[in-house]
Amino acid sequence: MLPHENCANFYDFVFNNRFGHGLSQLTQRNINDIQSRFPKGIKILDFGAGTGRLAIPLAEMGYEVFAVDQCKKMLQVLQEKAEAKNLVIPTSTTLDNFKHESFDLIISVFTVLHYITSEEALHGYFRDFKDMLKPGGHYLFDLENVEPYQNIYRRQNGLVHNRQNVLPDGDRINDLVKVSFSTPDNTLADYHEKVSGIYKGSTFECEENFQLKFWTPQEVTGFLTTNLGFELVDALAFGYATYFLFQKK
Ligand SMILES: C[S@@+](CC[C@H](N)C(=O)[O-])C[C@H]1O[C@@H](n2cnc3c(N)ncnc32)[C@H](O)[C@@H]1O
Repeated sequence: MLPHENCANFYDFVFNNRFGHGLSQLTQRNINDIQSRFPKGIKILDFGAGTGRLAIPLAEMGYEVFAVDQCKKMLQVLQEKAEAKNLVIPTSTTLDNFKHESFDLIISVFTVLHYITSEEALHGYFRDFKDMLKPGGHYLFDLENVEPYQNIYRRQNGLVHNRQNVLPDGDRINDLVKVSFSTPDNTLADYHEKVSGIYKGSTFECEENFQLKFWTPQEVTGFLTTNLGFELVDALAFGYATYFLFQKK
């Protein structure tokens, strides 16, 4: 079972509740950052696009957006949102379908790289990104800092969220998220999420269990620069995450 396969239909509802205003602030900041650096009309590949948090507004603004996500159900939600706004966003569960395209910008934002737990797979994606970028094209991604999560594991038994909310329209949400670190180097986390409640008048319940690998900035940026010849353009901290912008040389 892939991450989010069980919960894709409730993903936006759950994440909007979980992060509240912080998530809309993050989205606005991601969009502003892209808009301030890249002209409309350029071709963007959103890798790990999810339900289109960035793909949809970027397409609305006039960027030519392609979306890849390994979870078909997340892409179905994205497609429904795109159709409702008359936007055309080609989607695929693998990069293979877009390998004949070349992009000005590839993004993998909001913890996407942490879902890739093997170094071999991560490096394979980076090689593909390099091949799929135009000369001078850019790659934007974020990495979470592992320490806050390790502290949560040590100090509060891994409990990241445990909230019950009653919403103004009568919907309800019980939201539990836990992380635990079991490997000796403490960078591979078991992620557990159990969410239930009432969404649009109907009860729902879903559970997720998957692993997240907390790559260090050195591991990722070292490979991109030394092995693939990318150049670091910018690194910006936001919350527990740092956003990195690289350019293909
Ligand atoms: C936390 S969500 C972020 C979604 C979106 N980027 C955003 O900013 O809201 C992470 C997404 O990455 C996707 N993902 C993880 N590993 C992937 C892989 N190897 N290939 C494609 N998508 C992947 C997951 O399915 C999930 O939808």
